[in-house]
Amino acid sequence: MREDDAIFQRGSTVFTPALHIYYPFAIAKGAGTAVFSTDGRRYLDFTSGLAVLNLGHNHPRVMEAVRNQLDDYVHTGGIYYSETTVAAAEELLSVTPQGLDMLFFGNSGAEAVEGALKVARYTSGRQAIVSCSGAFHGRTLGALSVTTSSSAYRRRYHPLLPSVYQVSYPACFNCPCGLTPDACGTKCLEEVSRLFERQVPPDEVCAIIIEPFLGEGGYYPAPKKYLQGLRAICDEYGILLIFDEVQSGVGRTGHWFCCEHAGVVPDILTVAKAIASGFPLSAVVGSRAVMQKWDQGAHGTTFGGNPVACAAARATLQAIREEGLLEASVAAGARALNFLQGLASQNPCIGEVRGMGCMIGVEFVDAAGEADGRLCSSLIEQCLAKGLITIGCGLKRNVIRFLPPLNVTGEEMEEALDIFATAFTEVK
Ligand SMILES: Cc1ncc(COP(=O)(O)O)c(C=O)c1O
Repeated sequence: MREDDAIFQRGSTVFTPALHIYYPFAIAKGAGTAVFSTDGRRYLDFTSGLAVLNLGHNHPRVMEAVRNQLDDYVHTGGIYYSETTVAAAEELLSVTPQGLDMLFFGNSGAEAVEGALKVARYTSGRQAIVSCSGAFHGRTLGALSVTTSSSAYRRRYHPLLPSVYQVSYPACFNCPCGLTPDACGTKCLEEVSRLFERQVPPDEVCAIIIEPFLGEGGYYPAPKKYLQGLRAICDEYGILLIFDEVQSGVGRTGHWFCCEHAGVVPDILTVAKAIASGFPLSAVVGSRAVMQKWDQGAHGTTFGGNPVACAAARATLQAIREEGLLEASVAAGARALNFLQGLASQNPCIGEVRGMGCMIGVEFVDAAGEADGRLCSSLIEQCLAKGLITIGCGLKRNVIRFLPPLNVTGEEMEEALDIFATAFTEVK
């Protein structure tokens, strides 16, 4: 039996089927963009471990920082202070948008979303929360209550949090108002006003939560005007604006945070995934005005701000800055976007290629313009067989996420695009 198969079989004996592992091979080693399987195959990881490894696998600087930390101590449990944890917080706050200057460390994206919702309710004294249909904010019960990217994630978990309302996400390619971007004028923002008129008065709403770049729900960047409009609505009614940048943050879109493209600063920002290059760490970041009202003991954690993860986070942020990876990711992403848009222009089954920096979605449609999940999954399989790892997203799984590390080399990018184009020709 292949070693990969043996691991797969042992895994399916010990893990509940609720745990979904995308592909049936096991990693033996990771190095930069490359992953080597236990069967000795080399793959290009264009998932970056689900938008986590923005520096690729095992970046030497991160590994060194972690090793150094291991020699001193690995845990505080919130019993005493750690210089490493404080330094990581300072480093993170030096790259978050201006005005966001306090944080709470947790371990995962969902935990950061829980924290964001809790701080919004706690500090405002209001209960209602507005999220976007199609959003993914995590699997814990609070985060799941604002997640509607698929009813499969919510099946048999009801009742979820009450007083949660949804408005459409401004997914322009599949415009919720049936308009085209040039004729739109952010009509979908009117849904928020209608919600306030008919379902919940705005003075009962504590927060509006949105991914500025919809991730799991289909890889749609929200138009700048929409985010600016939401900011204005929140300001008018004293509602806290939460940006969930668990997937789009830490340089993924070519800025430290995606919201910078729109010049909009939220009141609360959630950060996780790429913050510590694979070590579990997340943060709820907020304005001092809000975070100071979150009284002592109103939230807590045992592992949040773990010193080893924080050493990795500090090294990650420093490497992105000092190695010029925001600029590098813009160049790498532009090459991919250009190539894929070229492919789309000759192939109507590629409905749209969109994105910023190294966060790119390729949407597949059938002859009627409807989501084509079958073509998309065949292409993902074919790419995998040729050594390129990608994953899909969207309700109908008809969008491929192109997520290379920010420091992907030119040769690796060309190799990946070549595999993608060949696989596409074979399956289309
Ligand atoms: C935007 C967003 N928020 C929250 C989460 C949940 O993060 P985690 O899986 O670390 O709990 C994810 C995960 O994909 C995400 O993409």
